[in-house]
Amino acid sequence: AYTLGRNGDLKGRTIVVSAGGTAEPIDPVRVITNHSSGKMGYAVAEAARDRGARVVLVSAAKGLPNPPLVDVVPVSTAQQMCDAVLARTEDADALIMAAAVADYRPLSAADQKIKKTDDDLSIALAKTVDILATARGDFVRVGFAAESENLVENARAKVASKSLDLIAANDITSEGSGFGTDTNRVTLIDRDMNIDELPLLTKYEVGNRILDRVVQMFRA
Ligand code: CTP
Ligand code: CA
Repeated sequence: AYTLGRNGDLKGRTIVVSAGGTAEPIDPVRVITNHSSGKMGYAVAEAARDRGARVVLVSAAKGLPNPPLVDVVPVSTAQQMCDAVLARTEDADALIMAAAVADYRPLSAADQKIKKTDDDLSIALAKTVDILATARGDFVRVGFAAESENLVENARAKVASKSLDLIAANDITSEGSGFGTDTNRVTLIDRDMNIDELPLLTKYEVGNRILDRVVQMFRA
């Protein structure tokens, strides 16, 4: 006999989670990406699975093993992640965007490897699609915000501009919250702008705290 996490309170629910840093091609061998490890999103996915949810993990992470019993959709670019998220949220109960989506991509990827010359090089960048702002529907929408300053103010602005139900904001300079760590210290801000400063926790437990709030919203 076994017991599901939080008594299986996500049974019958479909949760779409995004994870990892997108990679935007410059040419066949180079990309623009970021330091996201994907661990936060994978931890949310595992916590939701352990509470009985059907979990779709849209992942741009590199080098993390597929979590058992999670439907992993591998993607690379912001556009690919957007297409997968829009398709998989059609019948979802919640979307949790833990991915670090590139805000800009090279305007055009070169067909051939760019050869070096004696001159400096500039690459024109185009804005990517805002996945979270675009993915709207009858499901709970949760964002993440990594900030280096003005944490609460910046995160609140994102709750408002993307009409989020909840955001998990973290100060990237705070101890134990760096990229690639197994712990994180986040402040949860909901759509009513209520603030809940969580202590330093494992990413798995941060995932559970976020899911506790999602379960409350399902009940309300
Ligand atoms: N996000 C997204 N699509 C993007 C950029 C961000 O879906 N093109 C999502 C992230 O996955 C995260 C939330 O939006 O859940 C906030 O991301 P963040 O980078 O903190 O905010 P931005 O709106 O991109 O603003 P900025 O980077 O200027 O702080
Ligand atoms: Ca951004």
